[in-house]
Amino acid sequence: MKPVINEFFPGLEKIPWISLGSYPTRVEKLEKMGEARGFTDLYIKRDDRSSPVYGGNKVRKLEYMLADAQKKGKRTLITLGGAGSNQVLATGIFGHELGFKVTGIMMDQANAKYVRKNLLLDKYYDIKLVYTKDTLSEILSFAGEYIGSMLNGGKPYFVTAGASSPIGNMGFVNAGFELKKQIENGECPEPDYIIAACGSIGTSAGLQLGCILAGLKTKIVAVRVAYPWLVTKWRMKRMIGDIIKLMKKYDSTVPSVDVSEEELILLGDYLGEDYAAFTDLGCQCVNDMRELEDIELEHTYTGKALGGGLDWLKKQGKSNSTILFWNTYNSVDLSEKAATIDYKTLPKKFHKYFTEPVQEETWKG
Ligand SMILES: Cc1ncc(COP(=O)(O)O)c(C=O)c1O
Repeated sequence: MKPVINEFFPGLEKIPWISLGSYPTRVEKLEKMGEARGFTDLYIKRDDRSSPVYGGNKVRKLEYMLADAQKKGKRTLITLGGAGSNQVLATGIFGHELGFKVTGIMMDQANAKYVRKNLLLDKYYDIKLVYTKDTLSEILSFAGEYIGSMLNGGKPYFVTAGASSPIGNMGFVNAGFELKKQIENGECPEPDYIIAACGSIGTSAGLQLGCILAGLKTKIVAVRVAYPWLVTKWRMKRMIGDIIKLMKKYDSTVPSVDVSEEELILLGDYLGEDYAAFTDLGCQCVNDMRELEDIELEHTYTGKALGGGLDWLKKQGKSNSTILFWNTYNSVDLSEKAATIDYKTLPKKFHKYFTEPVQEETWKG
């Protein structure tokens, strides 16, 4: 199925795109969670099932980015993330399927069960892993890998952190149009607010722009889950501008959209001590979603986002608003594949994630 947005702006057909997922992802009511938290109309967008191979928010972005890499004749994908990065794994899984070599530059992060699982799966999908301990060494390692690949004829393509780039973010502008169609088909009400985890910003920026262009009243409540210097309204506004610029290049009927920083909602109070560090609110949310709705979230992105978003909306007196939680975390169970890998086959610097405790064991709350 082609991106829905192309029906509205046919010139966008020319933007490279390859089908990796299955859409539309369903919208379901979170009856029990809503009741437990005092919200009358709480819904979830099941992007955790955006592909039967591996779900989550990276699929929509990679459909554009990997098609772009193919069109440019690239052969190696080089990307960055935390040690447990969902985006490196998604790039590895889909890149592998399309015949690319994949390298992930992985930065140290707080340990958790999903970090172990993702690292084993990175190995399963043959991703070359490079450990780095901080942002500076991550940048230097990236430059080294990229130049090395160029010199060896690897034809490298940079999949930006979080796969957030103007072309990748198109996936979420399109998602706004997908939602509009679902509303028109009576599959769900028009949300007043969408809650989304905000790391590399592309999901929130793309969705906010998609909702505006699709004529929806919906505001994105972006919950910051990474560093304050990295995740800012200024960058979100710039990203929206960059996506518009790309769209206009392909279709001159795309209207100009000027969103001010004041109009954007970016919540900065729910990160906790660090990226990927557990928080009480995040933990409660992960537990409640498991017990009440049988839906598995994690503590770095989705638990913090839903917990923080609902907390903020409640304080704003929005308990009776229509709220849609965009579930950006994969729910396809790959644990059997992970179980075939011995962690000792990973580069040595990653062994500590298997020998040191995970926060699930140490978090006191
Ligand atoms: C599960 C999950 N949710 C949300 C995000 C954040 O999305 P974005 O980077 O587009 O802000 C990420 C990755 O960055 C993620 O892995």
